[in-house]
Amino acid sequence: MEHKALHHIELPVDENLLIQESKSYKDYEPYYDTKNECYLDDWLQKHVKAGIAYDICEMYKIRLGISDIRPRYYIQKNTFTLPWHKDRGTQCSLNFVLGGSAPISFRDGNYHYKYAILNTQEEHAVFHNKESENRILLKLSVFDCSFEETVKRYESTK
Ligand SMILES: [Fe+2]
Repeated sequence: MEHKALHHIELPVDENLLIQESKSYKDYEPYYDTKNECYLDDWLQKHVKAGIAYDICEMYKIRLGISDIRPRYYIQKNTFTLPWHKDRGTQCSLNFVLGGSAPISFRDGNYHYKYAILNTQEEHAVFHNKESENRILLKLSVFDCSFEETVKRYESTK
């Protein structure tokens, strides 16, 4: 489904490669919530410094002409709700949902997507969904280019 803060994109590699890579890491760390000064044990993240996700990120930097894009894997346990927020620092992101079926929620509704550029400055949340698998996400966070401009560059380089 379409939403003004969400733009569907393609995954440039076989999804299974990324799923395998996301599961190969053993060193996920609990996300540190700087606002509430606490670790979130059911929301894990892994900064990526090499491998397929890293290479994809480097490819997008060149293709989109954006210098500051950072790749991370996230695992959101199906018991965990990511509450309403706007990302800090991240203007937008290229998100690839590799596992789980929980939708992203905006204030005006819930939206399912697999691969999309998201405007992370639009308030959003991901509510827990015990029926679903843990949510595995590859997120390429864009720090120095707006959502609108990133979408424009994505479309013009297809
Ligand atoms: Fe977010």
